Amino acid sequence: MEIVIQPTAAAATTLAARLFVKAIRQKPACVLGLATGSTPLALYRELIALNLDWRNVTTFNLDEYVGLSPEHSQSYYRFMQETLFQHVTIDKRNIHIPDGLAEDILKFCADYETRIVEAGGIDIQLLGIGTDGHIGFNEPTSSLASRTRLKTLTPQTRRDNARFFGSEDEVPHHCITMGIGTILDARQCVLLAFGKNKAHAVADAVEGAVRAMNPASALQMHPNMTVFLDEDAASELRLADYYRWVYENKPERAD
Ligand code: F6R
Repeated sequence: MEIVIQPTAAAATTLAARLFVKAIRQKPACVLGLATGSTPLALYRELIALNLDWRNVTTFNLDEYVGLSPEHSQSYYRFMQETLFQHVTIDKRNIHIPDGLAEDILKFCADYETRIVEAGGIDIQLLGIGTDGHIGFNEPTSSLASRTRLKTLTPQTRRDNARFFGSEDEVPHHCITMGIGTILDARQCVLLAFGKNKAHAVADAVEGAVRAMNPASALQMHPNMTVFLDEDAASELRLADYYRWVYENKPERAD
């Protein structure tokens, strides 16, 4: 796991964006795993500004709320259209987002897994982290081998996400999410976390034991994993100075 600590979220975002630019430029038909929420907003803006060729890019989103139509103001379908897809040259047929209105959720989830495999697997997966350590919507105690499935959000996640809805009561209880096993199958994973409210979950995921109580800790098992943090999100890391030194003295800079 590589830990990259930057003075600001903007600086960390720019470095993370470079990995996605590289993926798209080196492999025009690459498969991206995408996330929603506030964390990746600036990264999407950076990708849009570069006018990359998205015509052959395929995307799979991590998750969606169950019960929200694509048109709902808080659906992740709408979020992705408004923050990224409407602004790039992606072919609509190459966009995959879990269907929150799927009638047969079990079948939908199995098909989603099949579609990822048929696309050739995810080349690079973007991740944020919940204050409870969730990745995608894999909440604490999710199986570390889980696949795409129906999950129930924790009260903490519903409280955290109430800021996007009118009130906590309006936040759905259920979601469809790629599993931790699905995420670990990506060839490369990139996790972004900014702000003090993420510091505890980040330290626990990076330096704590691998365990289902912190789903992001499973990323310790991934062979190509980079974590981009601002100083606030890095503030509880015991080995922060070591990570800074390692990054600044990298023999061959990947960027
Ligand atoms: C959303 C997702 C979630 C978020 C996490 C952090 O697609 O996968 O795991 O990344 O809830 O959300 P923000 O970025 O809003 O703090």
